[in-house]
Amino acid sequence: MQNTQLRDILRDAKAQLDKAESRVETDEVRVRFLGKKGRLTEILRSMGSLGAEERKRLGKLANDARIEIEGMLARKFEAVKAAEHALRFQAEAVDVTEPGTEFCIGAKHPITITIEEISRIFLHMGFSVTEGPEVETVFNNFDALNAAPNHPSRERTDTFYITDDTLLRTQTSPVQVRTLLAQAPPIKVISPGRCFRVDTADATHSPMFHQVEGLLVDEDVTMADLKGTLDVFAKRMFGAEVRTRFRPHFFPFTEPSAEMDMSCFKCGGEGCRVCKGGGWIEILGCGMVHPNVLRVGKIDTERYTGFAFGMGVERIAMLRRGIEDIRLFYENDMRFIEQFG
Ligand code: DAH
Repeated sequence: MQNTQLRDILRDAKAQLDKAESRVETDEVRVRFLGKKGRLTEILRSMGSLGAEERKRLGKLANDARIEIEGMLARKFEAVKAAEHALRFQAEAVDVTEPGTEFCIGAKHPITITIEEISRIFLHMGFSVTEGPEVETVFNNFDALNAAPNHPSRERTDTFYITDDTLLRTQTSPVQVRTLLAQAPPIKVISPGRCFRVDTADATHSPMFHQVEGLLVDEDVTMADLKGTLDVFAKRMFGAEVRTRFRPHFFPFTEPSAEMDMSCFKCGGEGCRVCKGGGWIEILGCGMVHPNVLRVGKIDTERYTGFAFGMGVERIAMLRRGIEDIRLFYENDMRFIEQFG
C-alpha cells in the first residue's frame, strides 16, 4: 500500500519538477514533497504506528525516495538557475559596438575666460580682485566720479535708472569709489563686472556688457607707472611684439586722461582688417585719478596720487578671438561657446 504511494509521490515530484521554470517554482515543489507538511514527510511521520520490521523496510524505501527527490531538486535548481542567469545576461548585455551616450559637460564662456586672462596678468603684478554691485547709487556711479551734473551720460536715454538715486551701473568705475571709501593707500585693485547702458544691440553694441576696472593709489605714483603697467598688460595679453601709445582724452574722474592704443597684433601696424587699416587698436581708457575723486575717500591728495583704467571685456575678447558680432556672446549657442573652453 505505502509502496505504491511512494511510487506515486516520486512520479508526481518528477512531473512537477519537469514543469517548474524558476527557482521559486522549484522550491514550491520541494515544500510540497519535503516540507513540514509535504507528502513524503507525512508518510515518514505516519510510520510511527507500524511494526518494527515493517517500519525498517518502509523507512528505507521512503528514505531512498527522499534522496532521489533531493537529487532531482538539486539538479533542477541548478538548471533553472543557469537558465535564469542566461536570460539575465542576455537582458543586461552591453553592445560594446554601440555608440556611447555623449555627456555635455559644458565649457567656460569666452567672456569668463577673457576676464580670467586679464585678471591673471594683473594678479601677477600684485593687484587684487574686488567686486562691486550691479545696482549702484547715482552718487557712486556719477557724482563721486566727478561727473558734471548735466553730463549727458546721466540722461534717462542713456542710463537705466531704478529709482531717482539708484541705477544699473554704466561702468565699473564706481568700484573705485567703494574701494577708496573702504581702504587706505596703498591701493592696488582691479574689478571685473557687468555694466548696463540704454543701447540698441548691433554687432558692436549691447545694453549689457563687461568691463575690468583698475585702480592704484600710493605715494609717488606717476603717469610713467600708468604707462608701464598698461604696456606690460598689452604685451602679456596680445603678444610681446605689441607697442602701445597714449592719446589725450577726457574722463571726468581722471586728469590727465588718455586712451591707450596698441599696434595691431595681427598686421604689426601695417594696416589690415582687424585694425581697419590704421595699424593701431584702441583698447582702454585711463588716467591719473582726479583729486576730487581721491577726496571722496578722504585721501590726502598732497601725499598720494594714483592712476585708474577701464577696459571693455567684449571688445578684447572679440579682438583676441576674431569674433565679429558682440551678440554671439549672449545667445548661448553651445556651438559658439564650446569653441573657447
Ligand atoms: N569708465 C570708463 C568708461 O566706461 C572707462 C574708464 C576710463 C575707466 C578711464 C577708468 C579710467 O578707470 O581711468 O568709458
